[in-house]
Amino acid sequence: MAAVKLLDVDGVGKDFRGLRALSEVGFEVEPGEILGIIGPNGAGKTTLFNVISGAIAPDTGRVVFGRKDVTGAAPHRIARAGMVRTFQLMRPFGSMSVLENVGLAAQHRRQPLRRLRGEAMDVVERVGLGPWAHRPATELPTAGLKRLELARALAMRPKVLLLDEVLAGLVPAEREPVLDLLAALREEDGTTLLFIEHIMAAVMRLSDRVLVLDQGRVLATGSAEQVTSDPRVIEAYLGEEPGDAED
Ligand SMILES: Nc1ncnc2c1ncn2[C@@H]1O[C@H](COP(=O)(O)OP(=O)(O)OP(=O)(O)O)[C@@H](O)[C@H]1O
Ligand SMILES: [Mg+2]
Repeated sequence: MAAVKLLDVDGVGKDFRGLRALSEVGFEVEPGEILGIIGPNGAGKTTLFNVISGAIAPDTGRVVFGRKDVTGAAPHRIARAGMVRTFQLMRPFGSMSVLENVGLAAQHRRQPLRRLRGEAMDVVERVGLGPWAHRPATELPTAGLKRLELARALAMRPKVLLLDEVLAGLVPAEREPVLDLLAALREEDGTTLLFIEHIMAAVMRLSDRVLVLDQGRVLATGSAEQVTSDPRVIEAYLGEEPGDAED
């Protein structure tokens, strides 16, 4: 019996002035699934998120979310439909507090302001930024900015969350609570996760399935164990800085 797909990426290609950033990329994601996305620097991982989330339109192929073709749709429309991404480079509004930053992300939800504020506070606490709620976002250290980026995405109540290296720049002790939170999002909220990650321990722990990108193409898909023992995947990672792919 074929499982229901929540996201269907089909034949996606993207060129940047002759550089093939993505080529014939296709995969499906089921509701509640956690898909890890790995690949060397420059493999096209962020570009793939840019296409899925509507930040850039692909040259070929299509993205179907639910039953709707969202290829090239504006990012805010896709986010409103329930597919939300975080950014590899974080850009909060520095003059605003942590809570205000999160509240702003939820604004499109046309709910009474009081309710949105309450929900924003819940999200701030859920990501562990409670004590920072009323401090300016600029005062946050890297780990805090990562949590804020996650909180801003969660405030939009995503069905599908696209996470672009949310663990980068965090020391191992800081990673644990984030990993716990991501696992809880699926267990408690049923959120579907696609996460780009270089830290293999996290990929092994969270992923139901892993998609490996290399030079804009899907090199392999399978369980974390399968892909990490695949000689083609090991080969693609050669030449990477050891610290990049290791925990
Ligand atoms: N807007 C753009 N204009 C031109 N080239 C781009 C653009 N965005 C990405 N590229 C190029 O496309 C390729 C894929 O980049 P992308 O950022 O998707 O890689 P990545 O897999 O996310 O890498 P990393 O692990 O370093 O984050 C790279 O060669 C990059 O330089
Ligand atoms: Mg990237």
